[in-house]
Amino acid sequence: MELKIALLPGDGIGPEIVGEAVKVLNRVAAKYSHTFEYREAPVGACAIDATGDPYPASTHAVCEASDVVLFGAIGDPKYDNDPSAKVRPEQGLLRMRKSLGLYANLRPLAVFDSLAGRSPLKTEIVRGADFLCVRELTGGMYFGRPQGRSEDGNTAYDTCVYTREEVERILHLAFGLARKRRKQLTVVDKANVIATSRLWRQIAGEMAPQYPDVQVEFMFVDNAAMQIIQRPTRFDVIVTENLFGDILTDEASVISGSLGMLPSASVGAKVALFEPIHGSYPQAAGKNIANPMATILSAAMLLEHVGLEAEGRAVREAVNRAIEAGVVTEDLVCDGGKAHSTTEVGDYVAAAI
Ligand code: IPM
Ligand code: MG
Repeated sequence: MELKIALLPGDGIGPEIVGEAVKVLNRVAAKYSHTFEYREAPVGACAIDATGDPYPASTHAVCEASDVVLFGAIGDPKYDNDPSAKVRPEQGLLRMRKSLGLYANLRPLAVFDSLAGRSPLKTEIVRGADFLCVRELTGGMYFGRPQGRSEDGNTAYDTCVYTREEVERILHLAFGLARKRRKQLTVVDKANVIATSRLWRQIAGEMAPQYPDVQVEFMFVDNAAMQIIQRPTRFDVIVTENLFGDILTDEASVISGSLGMLPSASVGAKVALFEPIHGSYPQAAGKNIANPMATILSAAMLLEHVGLEAEGRAVREAVNRAIEAGVVTEDLVCDGGKAHSTTEVGDYVAAAI
């Protein structure tokens, strides 16, 4: 297969972890006789530094002209600590999602058996957890307008907006995915308080008869936050709005033992984008210590997305072998184990394919 892959390494540890995923993809290409053609483009703080824009038109053009996008991370402390900054790296990510039509973010959470003991939660609670969080990605409070400050600067406001069309398309996707799994869908909302949640709940109720084989339940987000760490094995597919999905998936990552293990796929229109769910971890940038597994697993999702199932599986198995052999970065080291570098982990995974 010939595949055009846009590479958007971004900020912080982004270039290092994307570099390891490319190493693994190249190994897959060699072993299975595929041709992967890469085109790199800037996004985030590095794009602001270079062009003044966190998502330049030239980067958008590279994404549009590609089959898939592999993205690292964005964010820089110099913006986090400056609430008055008019241009922010995160705006680049949001504009990229919106302009590529990526309305759904799929965040699978599964516990590698060999890592069950790494979770801060009890092993018997996390073992066997395997669920998929479907996060709406281009609506809600992230994009609702008006958003801003009053003239005197003492009042700030955000607006949460969802249209029927936005809710229906994400719910259809989630119902369909539940159908391919254990056929259980949890719609997470705050319908006891907010209007958009009541719209979600109403529409999910209307759609349920079209998917008679899927069992639907509704759960308030505060309760979901508790159940995700109390009884993670009870979930199959969770679908929720943008902000709730952002928060719940960071929380869910503790089940897997490290935020550095969770990949994601953003889908919707023509081009799909694959990215680790963690951020740019600026403290680790350039030190060759960051965990590349989430990005490597995102590359596995990328392969599966384009129909290369066996190749995706081979990548997952190689990751598993690295973990079992103890070839992991410092965030996953068990007592007495040695912390390996980012490049050592990438080398091992690539060689294990
Ligand atoms: C994520 C991140 C982003 C988000 C930030 C960097 C804007 O936290 O992908 O989960 O909130 O969507
Ligand atoms: Mg987040």
